[in-house]
Amino acid sequence: MSVSLLSWVKPKRHLLGLDVGKSAVKVVQLASTRKGLMLKYAGLTDLATADADVGDRGVTMALYDLFKESRLRRQKIAINFTGRSPVVRYLLLPKMPPDELGEAVRWEAKKLVPFPMEETVLDYLIVGETQERDLKRIEVLLVAAERAAVLGQLESLKQVNLPIAAMDVNPLALFNTIQLNYKSDLDDNLVFVDIGASKMDINISKQGVLRFTRNVQMGGEEITQAVMRGLQIEREEAERLKRQKGLSGASAQAGAAAPMEGQAQDKDGRLHEIIKTEADRMILETQRSMDYYRAQFREGSVKKIVLMGGTCLMPGFQEYFASYFDANVELDDPFAEIVCDEGAFGDFRLMAPRFSTGVGLALRKTDA
Ligand SMILES: Nc1ncnc2c1ncn2[C@@H]1O[C@H](COP(=O)(O)OP(=O)(O)OP(=O)(O)O)[C@@H](O)[C@H]1O
Ligand SMILES: [Mg+2]
Repeated sequence: MSVSLLSWVKPKRHLLGLDVGKSAVKVVQLASTRKGLMLKYAGLTDLATADADVGDRGVTMALYDLFKESRLRRQKIAINFTGRSPVVRYLLLPKMPPDELGEAVRWEAKKLVPFPMEETVLDYLIVGETQERDLKRIEVLLVAAERAAVLGQLESLKQVNLPIAAMDVNPLALFNTIQLNYKSDLDDNLVFVDIGASKMDINISKQGVLRFTRNVQMGGEEITQAVMRGLQIEREEAERLKRQKGLSGASAQAGAAAPMEGQAQDKDGRLHEIIKTEADRMILETQRSMDYYRAQFREGSVKKIVLMGGTCLMPGFQEYFASYFDANVELDDPFAEIVCDEGAFGDFRLMAPRFSTGVGLALRKTDA
């Protein structure tokens, strides 16, 4: 442990976590106190459209709304990268001196990143070391994103004049939250899946190292759209039905909903079928990722799957998801290890899994 006198004068402060999602903007403010990690503020503003981008008027208005709070305004911010699919890859490289490692990572990145190196923002972290007989290797996590998308996001945020200090990618923010809340599961294969409005991030860690991450363009909005089409109803009604009824009563084996009279049964039965079809696709993508991971890393069973993101709040979703896997399936509570007084929360306690990314961003610290 390093001890610094200066750290008494200038303690490391948490950055303010700002998660700009497709359906809502969420902000989380944490502080390290003598009582432990404390929630100072959590806020969520839904976006009118389900397909917003940073720089859109809806997002700008949501940010104004959230930052009306003067105590939030001046704090430095960690934000998530909102551009399409950053590359996040675990690499196992032969042990080498640090000055050679940068070059080796760039070399690997050329093979993995779909755009030219000059147009890429590239970063990497050394996350561990392995030894097999005489062979020492370094575990590296490579993160790459398209430079134009990063700069574009920062440029559009200038309109709102927020002090951005760090930009993170979703899987790493989520992994921060996992490391806080699932300490006793970190040695094993741990799967955590964030299902938001527009996308799924499927992640797997072992021994405290994020080893696998995959982004699938599929989320809760797809379910709403399928309900709209299937039942020929407006978006608002479809969203309401999805949130109210969801998959309750459904299981992997049982095809039908609970017994009911005539037309209501038909409608509920169809709703179930539509939602199940979409949920099945999400489960299949998770299963595929787990199979790929197990084959690639020659790994065995997975004991736990953690569900994150708003779609997992759908009634019956967790049970339905669990019915396909041997693992324990849990709904994330990113605030589990955080001291929360209800005042800091508003009505958001019930939506905790929508804050998994926001908490992960807010766990980042700054020197200033
Ligand atoms: N109680 C609920 N039941 C079912 N679905 C819900 C519920 N609450 C929220 N959702 C759905 O969750 C999604 C929003 O979740 P979340 O806030 O995690 O997404 P996001 O971060 O905005 O999106 P993304 O991560 O894709 O950018 C929406 O599709 C919404 O319909
Ligand atoms: Mg999200």
